Amino acid sequence: MTSRRPIGIFDSGVGGLSVLPHIRQRLPGEDLIYLADQAHVPYGPRAHAEVIQFSHSITDFFLRQQAKLVVVACNRASAAALTPLRYTFPDVLFVGMEPAVKPAVQQTKTGKVGVLATVGTLESDRYAQLMGRFAQNVTVWEDPCIGLVDLIESGQTDTPETEQLLRQVLAPMLAQGVDTLVLGCTHYPFVRPLLNTMAPSLAIIDPAPAVARQAHRVLQQAQLLGPATSGGKLTLFTTGPAAPFAHLTQRLIGHEGEVNTAVWQGTVIGHQSDQILTTDY
Ligand code: DGL
Repeated sequence: MTSRRPIGIFDSGVGGLSVLPHIRQRLPGEDLIYLADQAHVPYGPRAHAEVIQFSHSITDFFLRQQAKLVVVACNRASAAALTPLRYTFPDVLFVGMEPAVKPAVQQTKTGKVGVLATVGTLESDRYAQLMGRFAQNVTVWEDPCIGLVDLIESGQTDTPETEQLLRQVLAPMLAQGVDTLVLGCTHYPFVRPLLNTMAPSLAIIDPAPAVARQAHRVLQQAQLLGPATSGGKLTLFTTGPAAPFAHLTQRLIGHEGEVNTAVWQGTVIGHQSDQILTTDY
């Protein structure tokens, strides 16, 4: 069996665009819908309950577009909402993200690992469980990189200000002998070139390829892969202003195309041709 229904992918902003090309490469025939919730970016400092509510409403929006799988391309939203989403939508397939601590622990030679993630991810129960499972025998340095998501959202992936912020984050880690760095926020791969220049010997781990493999596996198991092996369409939505998002999408992943505006109406997201449904959670 196959299914032509699209895959929904979301993040608070442009972060999930670092995951999207891996999904396109792995599943080139699938139609993808990407939603950036830029009306609410950053998710990092927001309360769990709020992130859960946004994630529910975005899932609802994707289901109205007939999505067959929802990829939570955001560590923060996954940490807060993946379990509640699976509970509220038991028939929906989800793939989420978590900081790639396990491969980092396997790979480190110094036994010292750095994790860059937003404050909400670092303070989540899910992250605590992850550390408990995999990081018993290594030392982990964490940094919430305050302000980095905002810099990336404004297109500052390689400015002196971003470099300064990363220098402050990296200096203590490198001084302690950290040799492996986990990118625990989907925005951060966009500063990877800068990180590589600043710390060339640091091994950097981005879970995006593993997320794409998991999306493939989940669809295969559910017999919901699309019939085509190429030519999948990408439809972009933002809940913020469309023009800067289109510009940034072009810069970050080289995608030129129309960006649709999705509008929050209370706890529901709609767009022009969409029939707005009211849902209570
Ligand atoms: N990109 C998101 C993540 O992976 C969150 C960024 C934010 O909105 O704080 O955690």
